[in-house]
Amino acid sequence: MSPFLLTRTLPADATDAALRADVLSGLTQHPKTLPPKWFYDARGSELFEEITRLAEYYPTRAEREILVARSGEIAAASGARTLIELGSGSSEKTRHLLDALPDLHTYVPVDVSESALAGAARALLAERPGLSVHALVADFTHALELPESPGPRLVVFLGGTLGNLLPEERADFLRSVRARLAPGDGLLLGTDLVKDEGTLVAAYDDAAGVTAAFNKNVLAVVNRELGADFPPGDFGHVALWDPDHEWIEMRLRARRALTVKIRELDLVVQFEEGEDLRTEISAKFREESVRGELSAAGLRLDQWWTDAAGRFALSLATVD
Ligand code: SAH
Ligand code: TRP
Repeated sequence: MSPFLLTRTLPADATDAALRADVLSGLTQHPKTLPPKWFYDARGSELFEEITRLAEYYPTRAEREILVARSGEIAAASGARTLIELGSGSSEKTRHLLDALPDLHTYVPVDVSESALAGAARALLAERPGLSVHALVADFTHALELPESPGPRLVVFLGGTLGNLLPEERADFLRSVRARLAPGDGLLLGTDLVKDEGTLVAAYDDAAGVTAAFNKNVLAVVNRELGADFPPGDFGHVALWDPDHEWIEMRLRARRALTVKIRELDLVVQFEEGEDLRTEISAKFREESVRGELSAAGLRLDQWWTDAAGRFALSLATVD
């Protein structure tokens, strides 16, 4: 028997309604914005996997180094029987953890990208036939209907994805995670750390242009799903370090004045030459900022591990 279930908590038309609402509000704001979860259609998920293999993109390698070194300790501290992973993508690094948890009963990968979930589940079931995998196609910023499964539970949020949320969104998100944890459950959080600007900017503006293609993919999603006519070639990829907020900001900059029609929304949007569309932030953290954000959500930082070069951190937190 292959214990695999995939649950869609959002019907396809709800995704559609959310995309419409996000595009309408984002493109009629100043500055114009688009929320990052729309990067991840099948093509976007593939491009992200390509990013994780780039020489400039150190976070994946640094986080994997910590997982390889610390999975035994994490497993011993959590004793998890259910592992819930938010924004799981390919689940590739998570295997180190799955392999270290001998009593693991259920793995619940949660992602907006159905193609990423399906690919990850296929690979996992081939390797761990006894594991029950219950994949959820869902938005982790909304209330999640988690399946019944035995505790203790470990919620895992890797890849620095927490940094893709704005500070207020992070506070809401961490509070909602806290609300789901019982005493004895834990949160394992991966966060990229503040470092020199050159290293940070290169990680989001690689020489081969993969990140640029990833950033522009959001235009292809809007073109396909909402009948828009964004000319991706007329936008340049921009990655900026904002030292006040300590985040990288990703933008798409109009190379010339443009008029874009979004047919399904009956919307016409003008871009001036050089005008930016903000697509993503990637906040960078310090130990004290992580401790403070966890604490504000009612979570206590118990363990803090970094890679040998001090680029990236994993935190293990429990209910305070
Ligand atoms: N955890 C993986 C992937 C990180 S990329 C890693 O560390 O390599 C971010 C992942 O989060 C993508 O797979 C994307 O589809 C997913 N994601 C982004 N926003 C999301 C949201 N609001 N709800 C659920 N998944 C989301
Ligand atoms: N969580 C990843 C990060 O912040 C997502 C990411 C990597 C990303 N490269 C990107 C998002 C480029 C947008 C554009 O590092």
